[in-house]
Amino acid sequence: MRVLILGGDGYLGWPTAMHLASAGHEVMVVDNYLRRRVMVEEDVEPLYPVPNLVERARKWQQITGREIVVQIGDLSRWEFVERVFKSFMPEAIVHYAEQPSAPYSMIRREAAALTINNNLGATANVIFAVKEHCPDAHIVKLGTMGEYGTPNIDIEEGWIDIEHNGRTEKFLYPRQAGSLYHTTKIMDTDLLWYYVRIWDLRVTDLMQGPVYGIFTDESECDESLLTIFSYDELFGTVLNRFIAQAVVGYPLTVYGKGGQTRGYLNIKDTLNCVRLAMENPANRGELRIFNQFTETFSVNELADKVREAGRRFGLDVRIKSMENPRKEKEEHYYNPKHTGLLDLGLVPNKLTCEELVRMMEYVSIHRDNIAHHKIFRGTKWA
Ligand SMILES: NC(=O)c1ccc[n+]([C@@H]2O[C@H](COP(=O)([O-])OP(=O)(O)OC[C@H]3O[C@@H](n4cnc5c(N)ncnc54)[C@H](O)[C@@H]3O)[C@@H](O)[C@H]2O)c1
Repeated sequence: MRVLILGGDGYLGWPTAMHLASAGHEVMVVDNYLRRRVMVEEDVEPLYPVPNLVERARKWQQITGREIVVQIGDLSRWEFVERVFKSFMPEAIVHYAEQPSAPYSMIRREAAALTINNNLGATANVIFAVKEHCPDAHIVKLGTMGEYGTPNIDIEEGWIDIEHNGRTEKFLYPRQAGSLYHTTKIMDTDLLWYYVRIWDLRVTDLMQGPVYGIFTDESECDESLLTIFSYDELFGTVLNRFIAQAVVGYPLTVYGKGGQTRGYLNIKDTLNCVRLAMENPANRGELRIFNQFTETFSVNELADKVREAGRRFGLDVRIKSMENPRKEKEEHYYNPKHTGLLDLGLVPNKLTCEELVRMMEYVSIHRDNIAHHKIFRGTKWA
């Protein structure tokens, strides 16, 4: 398939590009380096330097002989989006290109405005471009489990049947996000659902949980192909942050009671989920939703796992409960369904002590790059 990967320079976008190219697809990646720019502005550079997208694609081609075409530009600008779609005519679009940090979206008004304008602007442009240039193409959109929040009932896979006054109807499962960033993902879903209804678009919305990990099969052939890895509060996901904290002896930053429970997945499973969704497209006029995670853990459970892996690796890992800068439930019911991707053939990579130790080994090589003041800055929600 001709696959357009939007946000192809990111934590998930670059490994996805290599994975889909390896699987024989024709891949074009698009990015405007927004994440890199925000990271410099906020003084939260990644654990190790990452070559720019053009250099990475060149290296990839040297090693594998496979091409990944690169386009640098801003997807919230229509002229650019139109040019990309017209020239490539994708059959599938994997849309990662958003400002993905919940804390960043809560820092200040300008960051909130950037998150709203960028995320909704890019999604709207993708929808308009598909309608005008490739109406049969399949949009695979990355949403987040955070759209659902933490309701006191089971979380269904996207949809819920409601019975009211003796009549029934199927609705999008109620959404109630915990940050502005997550709220933009809800708005994305609403935009997509609207245009699926009126223009018969073909869309899969993947409600993904927090991802962890560094290594993917394709990055094993050369270190310069490794994805970007953040250990800071803004761009690091919780398990990746805990690994870096453990390595430099910084007590694991558990917010409040630590009972916050979420669905997690290994970065390798993100790639498999996206490929499975793409290779088994939604129908025209269908908004298909999958909950994309493999296991649920509370923050306390993650901290305990990292402490245990640290013990094996020879680290004395401490855990510190701190005042919660976020506004969220610290103990709650959590039972989300997640069978759709398993039914498509996903074989999960479960979280093991060996995986955590391997991450610790690699992060240790770069431990001198870890700046303590970047680990926790306590961005407040309210
Ligand atoms: N990483 C996770 O744990 C996680 C979990 C759930 C959902 N998601 C979603 O998956 C997607 C990818 O996440 P990620 O962790 O790889 O984030 P990321 O920031 O590393 O990747 C997103 C990429 O999109 C680019 N981008 C953003 N706006 C753009 C624009 N207007 N034009 C062109 N490029 C633009 C950024 O520069 C960045 O390289 C995001 O939509 C995120 O919300 C991620």
